[in-house]
Amino acid sequence: MYRSHNCGELNISHKNEEVTLSGWVQKSRNKGFIVWIDLRDRYGITQLVFDEERTSLKILEQAQQLGREFVIQIHGTVIERAAKNPNMITGEIEILVSQLTILNKANIPPFTIEDETDGGEELRMKYRYLDIRRNPVKDNLIFRHKVTQEVRNYLTKEGFIEVETPYLIKSTPEGARDFVVPSRMNEGQFYALPQSPQTFKQLLMVGGLDKYFQIVKCFRDEDLRADRQPEFTQIDCEMSFIEQEDILDAFEGLTRHLLKKINGAEVEKFPRIQYDDAIRLYGNDKPDIRFGMQFGELNHVSQHKEFNVFNSAELVVGIAVPNGNSFSRKDIDKLIKWLKRPQIGAQGMVYVRCNEDGTFKSSVDKFYAHDDFSKWAEITGAKKGDLICVLSGISAKVRTQLSALRMEIAEHLGLRKPNEFAPLWVLDFPLLEWDEDAQRYHAMHHPFTSPKPGQLELLKTNPSSVKANAYDLVLNGNEIGGGSIRIHDKETQAIMFDYLGFTPEEAKAQFGFLMDAFQYGAPPHGGLAFGLDRLVAILGGQETIRDFIAFPKNNSGRDVMIDAPSSLDKEQLKELYLKLDL
Ligand code: AMO
Repeated sequence: MYRSHNCGELNISHKNEEVTLSGWVQKSRNKGFIVWIDLRDRYGITQLVFDEERTSLKILEQAQQLGREFVIQIHGTVIERAAKNPNMITGEIEILVSQLTILNKANIPPFTIEDETDGGEELRMKYRYLDIRRNPVKDNLIFRHKVTQEVRNYLTKEGFIEVETPYLIKSTPEGARDFVVPSRMNEGQFYALPQSPQTFKQLLMVGGLDKYFQIVKCFRDEDLRADRQPEFTQIDCEMSFIEQEDILDAFEGLTRHLLKKINGAEVEKFPRIQYDDAIRLYGNDKPDIRFGMQFGELNHVSQHKEFNVFNSAELVVGIAVPNGNSFSRKDIDKLIKWLKRPQIGAQGMVYVRCNEDGTFKSSVDKFYAHDDFSKWAEITGAKKGDLICVLSGISAKVRTQLSALRMEIAEHLGLRKPNEFAPLWVLDFPLLEWDEDAQRYHAMHHPFTSPKPGQLELLKTNPSSVKANAYDLVLNGNEIGGGSIRIHDKETQAIMFDYLGFTPEEAKAQFGFLMDAFQYGAPPHGGLAFGLDRLVAILGGQETIRDFIAFPKNNSGRDVMIDAPSSLDKEQLKELYLKLDL
């Protein structure tokens, strides 16, 4: 038997018991005649004591040789500590060791296995198995497990069944590039790894399974960010005989359940916002509504004077920063510099200080009078003591810039509180999105999304105005899920493919299986997929999903631990009919 107890459970009630423990040497203090070792496992740390009086000299000498991260097994007696540590479950006791076995030696680890480590990101990723021994990473993985368990419990109770769908499939267009896998048995042909199980879950609905879910890996070859990995996990869901309202209800229920079970947070009915309003009021489609600072459009109250920067702008728009008048000139200059970085690309920023005495002081005092600023304050909701920040230029660009500024300031002011949860449904997304590079429309969600009733005709005359039965679930400024009510008849699907630039032959070649299925009694259906990594990170009070994935990829899409991707040898390439002309 390797252990009678784990390293996180013994306390004073176990005094005088004989125990066996196994684990890793966290640290040792060697005073010569006495040695203390912190023994660590997944559950905690237990202090061991070896001394020449109470244990044998041989064991004491062995203990003196133990290095960090050695794997050992000990047998001994639980005794009361002289110097107690009230912050640890095991802090009142220690184990007086009578037997010591070294199960495995260890090299000195390349970074300290402590909560605050000296290891940089790359190094920790290279030795991720050591990183996982650290509490913050280990706890995140345990946290993720709890969330997935709760998801499974809840959805199972609600009548959903988990079905696995294949990973070796044909490309499903979800907006990113596919990862492809060459087929050895089919010369010159490739599988694609799924960007999501979208078409399969729709086929399961045609198959009559009516309430499906799957916790499933998805693969997208896209540029990486803190909230994006090339392989990530979705809680993928689909339902039949439902309307949009049923879907929102079902998954609001799941989210509320998670917030309560995992975070102890009671959340009222989730607010809803139209996509167009989200863009108008927050400059993006995933607004963080834990704080205000809604946009105020100022064209009509700023384009009547000599200030040409505003006069020539398509949009003049501002936000009121609460208590922002306390920002120093230096703080404001820093914000302006931040806005002018190429990543944001603003030309500059106009600001207005709202003084306590009701006067205003601005960077454009030359052009505007008190009455003008009063109107700006009214529109942006600025109060005495606030700061109005105003940007101008091409609408879409300015909105994105001001949205970034809003988030930056909120971060700076500590308004993005990690344990406050503000979910939001964003509804009525546009069906299509103009692709400037390709000079054509793409489906904004995916090509299986249905247009709002009666809007199909508009596709001919005003495609960008057509709204979809599509929705996103946003939590604290992050898109944690998205879905839609699907097209379920062959004719409408054919019209959609046509508008998206597929010839009937191309549509048949790529999606013939789905169109065929629609001819055999497809029920009305729709669904949603949560990004599990994002959901877990946010419930955990963070935004970097890498920290909640056991073996993540770095920003170049590499696994630096196993050194992937890597090249193949000639034989393998030949077998796969791949010729690399290097
Ligand atoms: P969508 O593309 O919106 O919808 O994806 C659903 C959710 O998955 C998460 N997500 C990601 N998480 C981490 N890394 C990525 N690279 C990444 N890409 C997406 C997001 C997102 O909201 N088939 C549809 C769903 C449906 O219509 O039912 C789909 O995949 O949190």
